Amino acid sequence: MTLWFMTTNEGKVAEAREHFSHFGIPVRQFEFEATEPQTDDLEIVALSKLEQAIPHLPEPDDMLLVEDAGLFIDSLNGFPGVYSSYALETLGVQGVLTLMKHLESKDPIQDGNLRSAEFRAVAALYHNGETTVAEGVCPGRISHSSVEGEGFGFDPIFIPADLDADGEALPVGEMGDRSTHGTPFGGITMEEKQHYSHRRRALSSLLSHLDIRG
Ligand code: IMP
Repeated sequence: MTLWFMTTNEGKVAEAREHFSHFGIPVRQFEFEATEPQTDDLEIVALSKLEQAIPHLPEPDDMLLVEDAGLFIDSLNGFPGVYSSYALETLGVQGVLTLMKHLESKDPIQDGNLRSAEFRAVAALYHNGETTVAEGVCPGRISHSSVEGEGFGFDPIFIPADLDADGEALPVGEMGDRSTHGTPFGGITMEEKQHYSHRRRALSSLLSHLDIRG
């Protein structure tokens, strides 16, 4: 059973491959140019792309996965949100930092609240005529400077919120059992990112809906 992941983003493929490997499901990249509908709803985008790609599946009983994500920054009224790819191409991570330069406090909790943001991912999986949809969220905050290292997209400037003992995200600024200690996704390994990741959460939820475990 092959799971085709429709994306041009190799970072996403690596993360999905790592996650599904724990369930013995091989992931292959599916290159397909779908038209994106004009909407501010990630689920509508993911379902539309899935529908366009289904007729092009190599084998009718293969699985097809589409996953759409965005970074939602509270102080920017949810920008870039569904425009995340466009914002990354035009402003880049430095442009986002510049937009938020004035949002700073010496008090770490207040600083975290001023710079709070979350990643959201919607994953849609098609298999044997059925489509399952799941969402994953990763709350956190935007750093004051970018890091270089692993990751892609906004990873250099996104610091995930700490997690409690059950792996649930805590309010920004609260100390948890698992923490990156202020390091953005871009400064930690992909395996460590998986504990926090919106994408991993969406994929886990997808697998639990499908009864393959998550
Ligand atoms: P997409 O439309 O799902 O490909 O994602 C929208 C934008 O958000 C792209 O520019 C991605 O690089 C970025 N993005 C999505 N997920 C992540 C992530 O896990 N880390 C950093 N950036 C991400």
